[in-house]
Amino acid sequence: MNLVLLGPPGAGKGTQAKRLEERHALVQLSTGDMLRAAVAAGSELGRKAGDIMKRGELVPDEVVTGLIAERMDADEDGKGFILDGFPRTIGQAEALDRLMQERGKQVDRVIVLEVDDDALVERITGRSTCATCGEGYHDLFKQPKVPGVCDRCGGTKFTRRPDDNEEVVRARLKAYHAQTTPLIGYYQGQRKVSAVDGMADIETVQKEIDEALAGASA
Ligand code: AP5
Repeated sequence: MNLVLLGPPGAGKGTQAKRLEERHALVQLSTGDMLRAAVAAGSELGRKAGDIMKRGELVPDEVVTGLIAERMDADEDGKGFILDGFPRTIGQAEALDRLMQERGKQVDRVIVLEVDDDALVERITGRSTCATCGEGYHDLFKQPKVPGVCDRCGGTKFTRRPDDNEEVVRARLKAYHAQTTPLIGYYQGQRKVSAVDGMADIETVQKEIDEALAGASA
């Protein structure tokens, strides 16, 4: 099974992708994570992408499509993919269809997480991540059980993303509404869309995604 998780910044794509990976033995492919790794490595791609990400704009289609193609080829045990944050434009969606077809695969289901813009700003500005294992937290909605200690790995260092401030979040939302929402119609045309209420708490959203996937495969 290959899934696309579609939704605005802060909708919960990364949170739910991690949970889906564990429950369904799928591989998460996050273009945001890949780009942040390139920025941290200081590569030329990373320097160019970092400037664009700081402004909350989209990195060119050919760059992210190339990253996804590389990662698909590196996956040797044939597990399905959860595409998190890709595609984000019609050009990327068409490229993904081609990449899948060339590998004898297809996008099976597209989960659209629906969340109000104001809630997204609150979610993103309160987000932090364990610097050791990448587990995500939120100042209000998902705190570690022991304050300052990661539930998953026991790490004690947490980071915040440079693009997680209100001004850049508003720019990211603008890019989402202008360039990514047309993908909902694109995938509705392929009869692959399941909409999920992303305003609910994390456990409830997880349950609704599972129900959508079970319903789609029945
Ligand atoms: P990317 O890293 O993909 O960021 P994004 O799409 O803006 O999404 P986020 O990672 O911010 O949010 P999320 O939906 O994963 O939410 P999360 O689960 O963390 O992209 C960053 C940048 O890279 C882009 O702006 C662009 O420049 C570039 N880029 C990436 N991909 C690209 C592409 N394909 N093409 C071009 N450019 C690209 O949750 C957020 C917070 O809310 C967390 O704290 C979490 O704990 C909390 N939370 C989650 N679910 C809930 C819930 N149900 N209730 C309450 N709190 C919740």
